[in-house]
Amino acid sequence: MAHALLFEIGPPISLGPGGAPEDSIDQNRNSEDQIIMPNTVLIGLQWGDEGKGKVIDVLTESAEVVVRFQGGNNAGHTVEVGEERFVLHLVPSGIIREQALCIIGNGVVVNPLALFDEIRELRRRGLNVDGRLQISSRCQLVFQYHCLLDGLLEQKLAENKIGTTKRGIGPAYADKVNRVGIRAADLCRLDRLEVRFRRQASFYNRILRDAAAPELDVDAEWKKLAAVAHELAPLVQDTVLTLNRAFEEGREVLFEGAQGTWLDVDFGTYPYVTSSNTTAGGACTGAGAPPARIDRVVGVAKAYTTRVGRGPFPTELRNDLGERLRREGREFGATTGRPRRCGWFDAVATRYAVMLNGADTLAVTKLDVLDGLDVIKICTAYEIGGELIDRVPTEADDLERVVPQYEEVPGWKQSTAQAADWDELPAEAQAYLRRLEELVRAPIGLVSVGPRRSQTFAVS
Ligand code: GDP
Ligand code: IMO
Ligand code: MG
Repeated sequence: MAHALLFEIGPPISLGPGGAPEDSIDQNRNSEDQIIMPNTVLIGLQWGDEGKGKVIDVLTESAEVVVRFQGGNNAGHTVEVGEERFVLHLVPSGIIREQALCIIGNGVVVNPLALFDEIRELRRRGLNVDGRLQISSRCQLVFQYHCLLDGLLEQKLAENKIGTTKRGIGPAYADKVNRVGIRAADLCRLDRLEVRFRRQASFYNRILRDAAAPELDVDAEWKKLAAVAHELAPLVQDTVLTLNRAFEEGREVLFEGAQGTWLDVDFGTYPYVTSSNTTAGGACTGAGAPPARIDRVVGVAKAYTTRVGRGPFPTELRNDLGERLRREGREFGATTGRPRRCGWFDAVATRYAVMLNGADTLAVTKLDVLDGLDVIKICTAYEIGGELIDRVPTEADDLERVVPQYEEVPGWKQSTAQAADWDELPAEAQAYLRRLEELVRAPIGLVSVGPRRSQTFAVS
């Protein structure tokens, strides 16, 4: 299979004082001194937690602008640099690198209290946030009443619950399409914010009261909100202008997806999904980017599969092996701490995701977690009602009943965590990765063999 050289990763970078990386963007110049600045959308190809944060951090070695375009603080993106570990929820993962301007695009639902805490924590840990973070004036805001309703809806669904993060994401997106949402622009207009907040809060309190659920203390909540609105207001901008100026100036832009393809509200395992478009198309509407500005799509996939929350998961391992993957991969939610469900790589679902996102290249993470297994299985087809299929059924209950068909490949009995390039991988690991490429029909451009920035290499 032909491989375009899609990633160029320099030597491992150490965080300097104040978190500043000691790198430059000169590596973007090729031999003719032309500037190559691809604009990249990075999305998860599975059910989230593929290691997007880590890959974003690696790619931000050269990117100058990093934009989140959907989701909210249901996301938890982990970046490990040396001994430091950061978990980003609303702030783009590019914030870890000093040179990147970070934008929270209009498609993101922003909890102002959570964002304020996150920024404060990043500052406390020595990161320079000032002048490097913008919030779209068109972002919808998430308030405590959304979180309360999220909890109530889950409770009402009882055994059919989605298993949400209870961060109010669904209710906030519902307010947006119901045209009663409150937008970030209002953080700059306290008088208007207060009227709108109180109106919506009393609407939600009526629902909570009718359901005999605890109501929101509107005055107390407003006090907290007014204090942080004042702090966040200077960050609120028309980010469509910022982003399109960056395109005009030929700056490299990285779009940071949250969640994963199978959690997409349209294409995922509905209703066991999140409430936004997590797939590559969402980058345009969620950031205000013309489609022609997107040069490539990077799909991130784990070398196996995980899912947190409810819903179908054909290759799930409900046994010791699943337990082993959870332990070795430290598969506990970065946002809620919930144990993640673990299973084999699903080439049927991932191939569909590659097609749907138009992923030009794959970043495969957590290869090291498979170290030491005798045999590794890959799901290559599903059987349903006596028929073999190689696509993902639309209905969650059909996906629930498919029987995965596996192909077995030999494992490798050594550690991959120290591998610095392709040639240092055991032959069996190379064969496994090549087989994944073949099955999902996209070339691997990047392999990750550990949580740290340095445990990553490009594949050509
Ligand atoms: P995201 O939501 O896609 O950004 O992923 P999360 O941060 O929620 O979960 C991925 C977890 O795996 C984090 O704890 C990362 O530090 C860790 N991780 C990322 N890449 C690797 C890898 O190649 N090997 C191992 N062992 N851990 C990794
Ligand atoms: P990152 O960006 C994994 C899941 C929840 C639940 C469903 C709906 O870190 O990959 P929601 O709170 O969004 O209404 O919950 O979506 N979910 C995630 N699973 N990674 C995430 O984000 C997720 N964000 C939401 O567990 O099943
Ligand atoms: Mg995560």
